[in-house]
Amino acid sequence: MLHRVRVSHLQVSFNGEEVLNDLSFDVSAGEMFAVIGPNGAGKSTLLKSILGLIQPQNGRIVLDDESKTVVGYVPQSRVIDDETPISARDFVSLGQLSGFFPWPSMQERKVLREIMSFTDTDRFARKPIGKLSGGERQRVFLAQALVRHPDLLLLDESTANLDPDAQERMMELVQKAASDWGVSVIFISHDLELVRKYADRVLLMSRGFYKTGTKQEILNDQAMLKNVYQSISSEADGALQQKSPSAGLSLSASPR
Ligand SMILES: Nc1ncnc2c1ncn2[C@@H]1O[C@H](COP(=O)(O)OP(=O)(O)OP(=O)(O)O)[C@@H](O)[C@H]1O
Ligand SMILES: [Mg+2]
Repeated sequence: MLHRVRVSHLQVSFNGEEVLNDLSFDVSAGEMFAVIGPNGAGKSTLLKSILGLIQPQNGRIVLDDESKTVVGYVPQSRVIDDETPISARDFVSLGQLSGFFPWPSMQERKVLREIMSFTDTDRFARKPIGKLSGGERQRVFLAQALVRHPDLLLLDESTANLDPDAQERMMELVQKAASDWGVSVIFISHDLELVRKYADRVLLMSRGFYKTGTKQEILNDQAMLKNVYQSISSEADGALQQKSPSAGLSLSASPR
């Protein structure tokens, strides 16, 4: 099977603190690949390394046919001022303005319409992005990442703060992009129910511990999950313990 991304022996440290150490895995074309693990495990660091925003100390990240791979990314937090005057449509189109001319071509306009309809953001296309609800904004962010027709889509907790219905709708969209266009998706989530429903394979990570497997292999191993989610909180200081990473997790999620 075609590998879209191959991560080999990745090592990343910040000021001498090792965050990722000898992490290896690969993701295939059209695969929904979930990354789970407690706060501070290095999940966002992993995505930023794949994007080239962080320079690893060691290891390799190889994108399939690197020069042509288009990567879409929705970061973990994106602060938009309520008064931001840009419309949802213009915000989405920012994802595609890469050509010589600063205005969109006919083709770009067509793609923009298609993506906005696909993500159901056309309903509020003219509204200023600052006036949209959190869930509407998340869909706009996804639309902006999709408008370039990425080969690889990196989602950092894109469904956090969405109501359960909106979470499902967003994941269904992403799954459709994977199955219809062969987009490989790496998504970080703390919602194990959502992971169980939408992931093909899962990477469970903690500091220095990594396990990749099918969603059944990872999510049905309650003892391993518990160990991993407790490993960082037991090492951490009181502040982190108060905000226990496992608090919001449904570890008792029943196997389907
Ligand atoms: N640029 C940076 N400089 C220094 N330390 C950093 C930097 N980026 C991340 N870190 C540290 O690396 C560790 C992993 O951070 P990361 O954001 O990857 O965690 P995460 O798994 O995404 O956590 P969460 O679930 O809370 O989003 C944290 O301890 C963080 O403080
Ligand atoms: Mg993160």
